[in-house]
Amino acid sequence: MVTRRTKDEINHMYEAGKLLSQCHKEIFKRIQPGVSTKEIDAFVDEYLKKHGASPEQKGYQGYPFATCASVNDVVCHGFPTNEPLQEGDIVTIDFVVNLNGWLADSAWSYRVGQVGKKAEALLKASEEALYVGIEQAQVGNRIGHIANAIERFATDKGYSVVKDFIGHGIGRQIHESPIVPHFGPVEQGPVLEEGMVITIEPMLNCGAYFVYIGEDGWTARTVDGELSAQYEHTVAITKNGPLILTEQ
Ligand code: MF3
Ligand code: CO
Repeated sequence: MVTRRTKDEINHMYEAGKLLSQCHKEIFKRIQPGVSTKEIDAFVDEYLKKHGASPEQKGYQGYPFATCASVNDVVCHGFPTNEPLQEGDIVTIDFVVNLNGWLADSAWSYRVGQVGKKAEALLKASEEALYVGIEQAQVGNRIGHIANAIERFATDKGYSVVKDFIGHGIGRQIHESPIVPHFGPVEQGPVLEEGMVITIEPMLNCGAYFVYIGEDGWTARTVDGELSAQYEHTVAITKNGPLILTEQ
């Protein structure tokens, strides 16, 4: 069952999304060589609490941190660490805000200092792939329109799209129906209706799409050790087109 949200409910999620995107702007100012992802995690935790919200990922299925911090070949769900970030690294910071019981979910990949050409091109393509998907989040389209457009865009540019992690419905809980893959045929999944709220969060790899989970049970890395990047927004389907809740 896919829940359709009222205007009022979407407004609540919009407020959560606003706080989330403002927090990402603060993270942007703080990411630099020498800073650790544990420090970023502590900052996010405090920032959300200070603004009357909470980090929904902490404790979710036993996940121990406010944020996921995925450096270089880490695809997603990386644990924040005390390791200082280094010039040229790329790092995806992903977190979910709970404001008054309503959720929003967004991830950005960040450049640490100056990054190389390969990383720069990957980040640009990953961000563009997200917007190519969002463009398809229209009433009457299927989830498959989003999935297929992202896959075609990414593979045309020479990147692979991760298959083991996908977007999802969101509202009162992090993961609700429907599932939102970033690959596969147009014909898949439900038809989009007004009021649905979903995340679109493609992970693009420079090498193959294969990933493996590390010993902590969470950290997903590329099997071939190549770079991976991800941008994610929470998007409401409206009759006026996609409304991005996490970009304000
Ligand atoms: N933000 C992640 C997502 O997009 C949530 C990961 S669950 C966690 O689905 F437990 F790892 F935080
Ligand atoms: Co998500």
